[in-house]
Amino acid sequence: MLPGHATAAGTARYRDRFPNLRDAGHFRQAEHVPGVSQLWLSSIGLGTYLGEPSDAADQSYIAAIETGLRSGINVLDTAINYRHQRSERNIGTAIKRLMDSGELHRDEVLVCTKAGYLSFDGDPPADPRAYFHREYVETRVLDPKELAGGMHCMSPAYLENQIERSRRNLGLETIDLFYIHNPESQLADVSREVFRQRLKDAFAALEKLVKAGKLDYYGVATWSAFRVADSSRDYMDLFELANIAHEVAGEHHRFRFIQLPFNLAMPEAYGLVNQRTGKEKMSLLSAATRLGIAVMGSATLYQARLTQGLPDLVGSVLGMKTDADNAIQFSRSAPGLTTSLIGMGRKEHVAVNLKPALTNPTPPQEWKRLFTRTKE
Ligand SMILES: NC(=O)c1ccc[n+]([C@@H]2O[C@H](COP(=O)([O-])OP(=O)(O)OC[C@H]3O[C@@H](n4cnc5c(N)ncnc54)[C@H](OP(=O)(O)O)[C@@H]3O)[C@@H](O)[C@H]2O)c1
Repeated sequence: MLPGHATAAGTARYRDRFPNLRDAGHFRQAEHVPGVSQLWLSSIGLGTYLGEPSDAADQSYIAAIETGLRSGINVLDTAINYRHQRSERNIGTAIKRLMDSGELHRDEVLVCTKAGYLSFDGDPPADPRAYFHREYVETRVLDPKELAGGMHCMSPAYLENQIERSRRNLGLETIDLFYIHNPESQLADVSREVFRQRLKDAFAALEKLVKAGKLDYYGVATWSAFRVADSSRDYMDLFELANIAHEVAGEHHRFRFIQLPFNLAMPEAYGLVNQRTGKEKMSLLSAATRLGIAVMGSATLYQARLTQGLPDLVGSVLGMKTDADNAIQFSRSAPGLTTSLIGMGRKEHVAVNLKPALTNPTPPQEWKRLFTRTKE
């Protein structure tokens, strides 16, 4: 396994290989985040969620990831369950190839993965129940009592097992950033009290893995938790999560990233006031800034739905030529958002999606016009 992790010197070296992108503000630092603030991270990251679990899609993903790393993307996002571990393996292959050819160094790239869902290995097994029983229950990795909704587990033993597999899939000694994947899905099944204790146990285990050099940072990657009202069953309170991290590891805790969808159709991280400390209420992006946590935006194109048919106002405010470019520009210009993740299983998409990165992010006062109500 390759040693090392993303560093200030490595990511600055990477940034300087792309002067046009650098000068247009494509690389940024999450200045408010302890430890992370020195890293130069690309405003566009490559996601690996969608696509068939097939050999042809593997080859296409490997080519897209290599193109991304060669063109100015140094944030890669995956999860152990994406395409049944194939996406992690594709990232591992692409990184190794570029390192072998001398085009990339380990310290230049932030590799992010997730676990929580039950995961298959390469292909769905003929009998999924028998597979999970044999692979996880008989080996005592997973106690069925800790399984929520029949498909999600965040117990320390299960996460540690998944992280070992991810390290092997990625070929990396240290995963730069590990997220608990959609933890809010457990809230359909368990009380808030049980949920809090499970998160606390998970955070404590992840802090130990940081100390052991297997991870550098951890966080939660969510779908709904941060985009809903605080009365919702699947709501998560970021101040509470930061408190849990403090309880387990003090002020030097490594809970330094969160992920949630952020796009023109899902702008809640900026537009919804659903976080609270004392009497003060604020948006998720403001809360993360306050707490020293970096925010990564997922589903930047709303899974390709935003690549056509956007209202004219969007283009007139953001100034890009195509709908896809405007959707990307919207996300990467959000105040306080570090990286906008775009799923790209084809190298042709990498090439076109980097075009907006040659333009400076839209200034906040302009960008905010998209949130101003117009008269009927
Ligand atoms: N809860 C979570 O943890 C969570 C949830 C959702 C997403 N994510 C992460 O965020 C990443 C991004 O989200 P996403 O992949 O769901 O959705 P997305 O980025 O909004 O859209 C990806 C889709 O858009 C297509 N596409 C990319 N560029 C295009 C272009 N210029 N024109 C037309 N189509 C284009 C891609 O096709 P090709 O693949 O063929 O290139 C893919 O089908 C994921 O890959 C994943 O890493 C995390």
